[in-house]
Amino acid sequence: MNKKLKNELLKKMMIYFEYDNNHINHTYRVLYYADELSKSLLTKKLLKDINLDVVVFSAILHDIGIPICKKKYNSIEGQLQEIEGPPIAREILESFSIDEEIIKEVCNIVGSHHSVGEIETTNFKIIWDADWLVNLPDVYDIKDKKNLSEIIDNTFLTETGLAKAKFLYL
Ligand SMILES: [Fe+2]
Repeated sequence: MNKKLKNELLKKMMIYFEYDNNHINHTYRVLYYADELSKSLLTKKLLKDINLDVVVFSAILHDIGIPICKKKYNSIEGQLQEIEGPPIAREILESFSIDEEIIKEVCNIVGSHHSVGEIETTNFKIIWDADWLVNLPDVYDIKDKKNLSEIIDNTFLTETGLAKAKFLYL
């Protein structure tokens, strides 16, 4: 991972979020978990289909459609984000010399990050799990442990994401 490029992308992300700390903090937390999950999956399982560039770029840009959705529709509904996010992600990635294959995969993840099952790659699953690790307490009552245990089992897609969710919330 090229650190300079990662920092440039983080800077662009903050500009698109108009320095809104809620979105910026959310993105940094998703990035943190995405990084942790991919590294532990890589060491444990030697999964060859994880591309750290795709994971990091997708984590940084996954919610990038939110500001335009707020302006255009006065809504941040998932389906709208999936439509508006990818062209912005593409524009940002194309401003750096990033391989088209990587841009395509990142845009697909950004365009499906609320729709489980559309993409079956490990890169997608890592972003899905990292986003849910952050969002879980906002969406569900995490005090109801019995119910939460079932939700966690049905939500997380990677072994390490599932283990992390159980560790954090159960
Ligand atoms: Fe998110």
